[in-house]
Amino acid sequence: MTGPEVRAAGGVVWRRTAGAGLEVLVVHRPEYGDWTFPKGKAEPGESDEACARRETEEETGLACELGPELAAVSYTDGHGREKGVRYWAMRPVSGRFEPHGEVDEVRWLPPAEARATLSYETDRTVLGSFAAAQAESADPLHARPLLEGDLDPDPLRAFAAWYADAAANGVRMPEAVAVATATPAGAPSARMALLKEFDERGFVFFTGYGSRKGRELETNPRAALLFYWEPLGRQVRIEGQVSRVAREESAEYFASRPRGSQLSASASRQSEVAASREALEARVAELAAEHDGREVPRPEHWGGYRLVPEEYEFWQHRDDRLHDRLRYRRADGGWIVERLQP
Ligand SMILES: Cc1cc2nc3c(=O)[nH]c(=O)nc-3n(C[C@H](O)[C@H](O)[C@H](O)COP(=O)(O)O)c2cc1C
Repeated sequence: MTGPEVRAAGGVVWRRTAGAGLEVLVVHRPEYGDWTFPKGKAEPGESDEACARRETEEETGLACELGPELAAVSYTDGHGREKGVRYWAMRPVSGRFEPHGEVDEVRWLPPAEARATLSYETDRTVLGSFAAAQAESADPLHARPLLEGDLDPDPLRAFAAWYADAAANGVRMPEAVAVATATPAGAPSARMALLKEFDERGFVFFTGYGSRKGRELETNPRAALLFYWEPLGRQVRIEGQVSRVAREESAEYFASRPRGSQLSASASRQSEVAASREALEARVAELAAEHDGREVPRPEHWGGYRLVPEEYEFWQHRDDRLHDRLRYRRADGGWIVERLQP
């Protein structure tokens, strides 16, 4: 074999959707009646990388940057020609999205749908390696550095920015947070809760005051909050003192909840042993009848806690486990930021 006579290159152009899913771009060429990834023949003297970029831009209108190389495939085509094709993961950086040249249609599709749409086996195989590369560290969202200058000097504003990023990048419940508490003797426990509010006064969640966490907080009013926002490769830890929110605040939030949730909160002695599911449902039905046609009052055993942060840590995933960690701790009425080893 004298090596490929035809050199071609192209790419898997991808983007992340609002729902955090991935989509890849496929193009349709009417001349061949096929759906493929944008790719084409290299000009004499042209590098494969330059060819991949040029062809992608010609076929889709999008200028792209090259990510990791996904595959280098060689085969003999129907005319007995040796062909070599190289593919890269690509991210659009500029340009207007419109097909031209020999392409009549372009589509963003989730990888599974793209696999079913593509005409060539080689393109399907490359899509597999693309998924693997994404799952590793090829995701630029994951690999984004966290430098000291990147975060607001005020950790509350830094948190607000990351929270907004999580919501914008399709994290389904950015407000889901692990809450760790401990007994006065130091035995820890953790569970998920929903963050309902955060501002300069602290971080608020609502729960049963007689629950395990409630009892632990009443005798040892310290907690740790932990957020993990996967598509961004980010973790935030917040620790501090906890106290009950004002009764009016709990009442106001309780009043805003759906009636079903209000009845369940009233019926449940959270974390105590239940006789049976039926007994719980019977208690809910009893309360529903009792409050029929009236507002359900907030039960005394249910309300909010507010954690006042003494320490924050912002953690950003980096390649090779050399992660970035910036810790804020209170000092002299302000905050000191320190980098922690990963
Ligand atoms: C995503 C998620 C969100 C939750 N949000 C809350 C919440 O806001 N308040 C609450 O009391 N329990 C919430 N729970 C249930 C708690 O994890 C836990 O089961 C319950 O509060 C009893 O915990 P405890 O026995 O440690 O007090 C949530 C569970 C999950 C999985």
